[in-house]
Amino acid sequence: MRPAPVLPLLAALAPAARAQLYTLADAYVGASFLSTWSWQTIADPTHGAVNYVDLATAVAHNLTYATPDKFVMRADSTRVVANGTRGRDSVRILSDRAYADSLLVLDLQHMPQGCATWSAFWSLSQTGPWPAGGEIDVIEGVNLQTGNLMSLHTSPNCTMPAPGPARTMTGTATSTICDADHADNEGCGVAGPALSYAADFNAAGGGWFAVQRGPTTGIRAWFWSRQDAAAAAVPAAVRFPLVAAAAGLTPDGDAAWGEPYAVFPTGAACGYAEHFDAHQFVFDLTFCGDWAGNAYPSSGCPGTCTDLVNNHPEAFTEAYWEVNGLYIYTPLEEPPTGPYPPYPSS
Ligand SMILES: *[C@@H]1O[C@H](CO)[C@@H](O)[C@H](O)[C@H]1NC(C)=O
Ligand SMILES: *[C@@H]1O[C@H](CO)[C@@H](O)[C@H](O)[C@H]1NC(C)=O
Ligand SMILES: *[C@@H]1O[C@H](CO)[C@@H](O)[C@H](O)[C@H]1NC(C)=O
Repeated sequence: MRPAPVLPLLAALAPAARAQLYTLADAYVGASFLSTWSWQTIADPTHGAVNYVDLATAVAHNLTYATPDKFVMRADSTRVVANGTRGRDSVRILSDRAYADSLLVLDLQHMPQGCATWSAFWSLSQTGPWPAGGEIDVIEGVNLQTGNLMSLHTSPNCTMPAPGPARTMTGTATSTICDADHADNEGCGVAGPALSYAADFNAAGGGWFAVQRGPTTGIRAWFWSRQDAAAAAVPAAVRFPLVAAAAGLTPDGDAAWGEPYAVFPTGAACGYAEHFDAHQFVFDLTFCGDWAGNAYPSSGCPGTCTDLVNNHPEAFTEAYWEVNGLYIYTPLEEPPTGPYPPYPSS
């Protein structure tokens, strides 16, 4: 009789090989945004009809509103825009801190929707100058769009493989050249799943976006609608980051998270270290401009973009971000040894 094989038994007892593990570095929830992000009053670099206001103005006009567990940023929806001014009052904020390799989770209840809007949650190199160090657009869209467009904008020599074995994802690639000098800074985009943007996203009660970035994984993104929570399809580290962190649990963005909707592999055709460094995050909401304005005539929206922005404040009542939390995980230097406790399930 042959002896029983030993190695498979040992392998079965050893913890399964795991992907990169993370620890919760920062949790931005409610009023913590007010002290850890800056309100940018710059002229919109994308030429929108927008007047970005400072924190004091935003709070005074209730364009920024925070409770212990909610953070709201909105456009003005009460006043006609005076002729000769920059445009409709709105908010653009930048995180004080920058993050390199990381795993972010954004729990969002509502995002801006409606004709003329162009909203984005994205990150850019703290060092720059743009596009050096890269730009990662996590959420972006315009006008009546309902599916999110995620995209990268980089310095030269960053190209993504065509979808296939090297790039399996549920989303649809819209272009593969990330170089910002190519095609008027089109970027390399991936159109995301149903319910991932604006009206459809909001009607479903919002949801969660997660983005992982690192030299071995490249950049990968997941999305879960709030509707998926009922089916328990949302990982605990996404749904309950504070509970998971308090329990000492370490998410890993592994196969349990399901297939990403967007995958941007890095390697020979797009070196990670050459194209991506530490990024600060931005939430913004502009109107018309280079994208929403140019796309407006074919968007199904009424009249002209600037007339809507200037003269129809009532069209902007849904033009707001409502954030439940933004959680940034960073890599654990020393992976803990097993056994690994299960994540809480409720
Ligand atoms: C400010 O906005 C918040 C969030 O939408 C709302 O709950 C609150 O009633 C508003 N406050 C005022 C004074 O309008
Ligand atoms: C702005 O100018 C236009 C054209 O001159 C005029 O029709 C409109 O009433 C003005 N709007 C305001 C708010 O003054
Ligand atoms: C891009 O790649 C080409 C060919 O390898 C090289 O000549 C060029 O210097 C690279 N450009 C940058 C900005 O790295």
